[in-house]
Amino acid sequence: MRETHFGYRQVPLDDKQALVDDVFHKVARRYDLMNDLMSAGLHRAWKDALVTAINPPKSDREFALLDVAGGTGDVSFRTVASGGHGTRATVADINTEMLAVGRERARERGLDDAVTFVDANAESLPFPDKSFDAVSIAFGIRNAPRIDVALKEMHRVLRIGGRFLCLEFSNVDVPGLDALYELYSFNLVPAIGRAVVGDAEPYRYLVESIRRFPRPNAFAEMMRTAGFARVSHRVISGGIVALHSGWRL
Ligand SMILES: C[S@@+](CC[C@H](N)C(=O)[O-])C[C@H]1O[C@@H](n2cnc3c(N)ncnc32)[C@H](O)[C@@H]1O
Repeated sequence: MRETHFGYRQVPLDDKQALVDDVFHKVARRYDLMNDLMSAGLHRAWKDALVTAINPPKSDREFALLDVAGGTGDVSFRTVASGGHGTRATVADINTEMLAVGRERARERGLDDAVTFVDANAESLPFPDKSFDAVSIAFGIRNAPRIDVALKEMHRVLRIGGRFLCLEFSNVDVPGLDALYELYSFNLVPAIGRAVVGDAEPYRYLVESIRRFPRPNAFAEMMRTAGFARVSHRVISGGIVALHSGWRL
C-alpha cells in the first residue's frame, strides 16, 4: 500500500485527503481570523505579492484566474479588486464548508458574478484544457496527497502563455529567526488554535506539514516535471514563505 505523510504521521496515501478535509472542516468558520492571528497580519502582504504577480489587467480586458485550494476566496477577492471590470476568478476547493464561507462573503460583497466557487479536487480539475489566463494556489499544494498530479492538472488548464503561481510556506534560514520561528510554530500556533478554534490538532498538522514540504529547489524541479517553463521562486519574510512561478509556453 502506498503511504504518504499527514504532518509527521505516516498514513496510507488514500487516507490523507479525508484527514486534511477534517482539518479544514473544523477551522472553516474561523479560518480567516486565524490567518490574521497566526501570521500577525503578514499573510495579507504575502497574498498582495501573489496578486501583484498574477497581474490582472486594469483595463476591461477579460482575464480569468483559477485559484486552486482557494478556500474562503481571499486570493480571488483580492485579484478581482486589483483588476479591471473584465477580471473574473474561480475558486476551486475540495472542502464544502470553506466554499460555503466564501460564497457568503461573495454575496455580502456583491461579488457573486465576479467570483465563482466550485467544489473540486486539485488532482482532477473539472475544467477544459487551456481555459484560464492564470492559475494560483496559496498554502494549498502541501495538502494534496499527490502533488505531482495536482501540478499536472494546473498546467493542463492553463492557457499557453499563462502563468502559474504558488505561494507556500518555506524554510526560515536566517540565524536567530529560525530558532524563534521553531519556538513560535510548535508552541504558540497550536495554543492559538486551541484558544480560537477549540482544538490544537489542526494547527499541529499545519506546522508539521510545513516542515515536511519540499525545499524550494526540489519543488521547482517538480514544477518542471509537470511541464512548467521559466520556473523561478523568491522567498519573502526571511523565508517564512516562498512565491513560486512558472509559465506554460
Ligand atoms: C490553508 S487553506 C488555504 C486557503 C486559501 N488558499 C488561502 O490562502 O486563504 C488550504 C485549502 O486547501 C484545500 N484543499 C485541501 N486538499 C485539497 C485538494 N485535494 N483539492 C482542492 N483543495 C484542497 C482545503 O480545503 C483548504 O481550503
